[in-house]
Amino acid sequence: MKCREKYESSFPSQICGNCDSLLNVVYDEKKKFSYTRENSFWSYEAFMPDCNYKRLEAGSTNVVIADEYGLYFKVETTNPTKSFKDRGSVIELNKASEYGYTEVACASTGNMAYSIAHYSRILGIKVKVFISKHANRDKIKLIKGTHDADITEIDGDFTDAQHEAIKYSKKNNAFLTGDYCYRKEGQKTAIFEAMHDLRSVDTIILPVGNATLLAGALEAVKYMKRNNTIKQIPKVIGVEAEGARPLYAAFKSGMPIIREKPDTAADAIAVGFPTFGEESIRLLRELDGDMITVSDREMQEEAAKLKEMYNIDAELGGAASVAAYRKLNPEGKTIALVSGGKV
Ligand SMILES: Cc1ncc(COP(=O)(O)O)c(C=O)c1O
Repeated sequence: MKCREKYESSFPSQICGNCDSLLNVVYDEKKKFSYTRENSFWSYEAFMPDCNYKRLEAGSTNVVIADEYGLYFKVETTNPTKSFKDRGSVIELNKASEYGYTEVACASTGNMAYSIAHYSRILGIKVKVFISKHANRDKIKLIKGTHDADITEIDGDFTDAQHEAIKYSKKNNAFLTGDYCYRKEGQKTAIFEAMHDLRSVDTIILPVGNATLLAGALEAVKYMKRNNTIKQIPKVIGVEAEGARPLYAAFKSGMPIIREKPDTAADAIAVGFPTFGEESIRLLRELDGDMITVSDREMQEEAAKLKEMYNIDAELGGAASVAAYRKLNPEGKTIALVSGGKV
């Protein structure tokens, strides 16, 4: 955050009131992470932002052993709206409800809004969605059908939609949801659960769109190492599509992130300027992580194999981690996060 202002968790926004930059959740130093006896999403409530939570269903997904030696899939397609997004949405929507908001706004490539609409419906909150008119039509239909969301399709990409959501939330006193600090905290639980199941892991591979999942995963392993829950930090590898690789380009070149025009069939990760990009690059360098890209064809092939061999119905972005595994062939134990399913 630019101005270094600090807020209590009762501050009803994820954006700084002074300088408009993104807030970050900071926990009490005394709070030590440890595995919980039960390994479920809500068993990690003590390591989530303070809130009087309604324990809505999310996460608690399985780790599936693959045929290849050392490869494990963290299968997020079994979340209520078929993607890991539900983990962060549960936190954001609980916060919006506790702050007393009656409407939330978000930008989405599809899965985010589907997830936010699902939990908003349960909590009785109105939803305003901004989405690119080039987004997946089935997902747009699904969002509408989930909570009769008010959807504005824009002639631009996800980043343009994000600007519209910010403007709308300010003007209409709607809680701004999406790729912000509370979602990042929720995404960490995927790593807590997977590490609990496998205990020691050499490599974690996950897809990157707006980089909230990547930043959350890197923070999660750093936190677990600091608290001696894990002995070594796994190598965290982020995967972008070849047609939307702004983070890969910046990470490899050492140059600032330059906005791209996404051109990939993997709509969930079609992001030209990741919100948590800078933070992810800093953490990747600090924790010796890496970035890789995969082609649409590689994702298509892995999605087909996941269906045929494991009956996992992954969407293209969901299969990106497995496509990256195939290219890298890392030694030891690897978790490939299968982030989302076909809707
Ligand atoms: C299925 C799926 N995988 C990966 C991602 C990328 O996550 P993030 O935007 O946190 O990088 C998304 C984001 O929408 C998604 O829906």
